[in-house]
Amino acid sequence: MQYSFGIIKPDAMQKKYYGKILDDIASAGYKLIGLKLFHLTEEKAKNFYAKHENKPFFDELIHYMCLSPVLCFVVQKENAINDFRALVGNTDPKLAEKNTLRAKYGQDLSANAIHASDSEASFDREWRFFFTENELYFQ
Ligand code: CDP
Ligand code: MG
Repeated sequence: MQYSFGIIKPDAMQKKYYGKILDDIASAGYKLIGLKLFHLTEEKAKNFYAKHENKPFFDELIHYMCLSPVLCFVVQKENAINDFRALVGNTDPKLAEKNTLRAKYGQDLSANAIHASDSEASFDREWRFFFTENELYFQ
């Protein structure tokens, strides 16, 4: 069994897509084992996205991630990391395949509705920003 970490980002929160997104994730066979609303501070967002520090889009990304509370979650499924990245789709919603979450709910390259861990190492790092171990319900 494998796990992945995701965030429903501010654009999707503001458009109230959180219910639809969680429904699509459940329909795709994932079990939800952790869920939390969280309003990121600039400091926490910078730390979470530290690897993009030197990218031209960094300041815009940090500003955007702090616009509203986000919904953080952990899902469980076989091959969860790769499968969830595939369900989420290309970083740019315009390039994402038709049935992916970013194609359905994203607006643009910055406001792309959802974050998904890109590796097991990223998952191990990312879920700890938002959850303690006793807030996850392994099944
Ligand atoms: O989220 P993903 O792993 O697909 O993409 P990333 O390259 O790790 O970038 C992280 C996030 O930065 C993206 O999801 C976008 O919200 C944002 N981004 C951006 O605003 N402009 C870009 N050219 C690339 C990414
Ligand atoms: Mg990434």
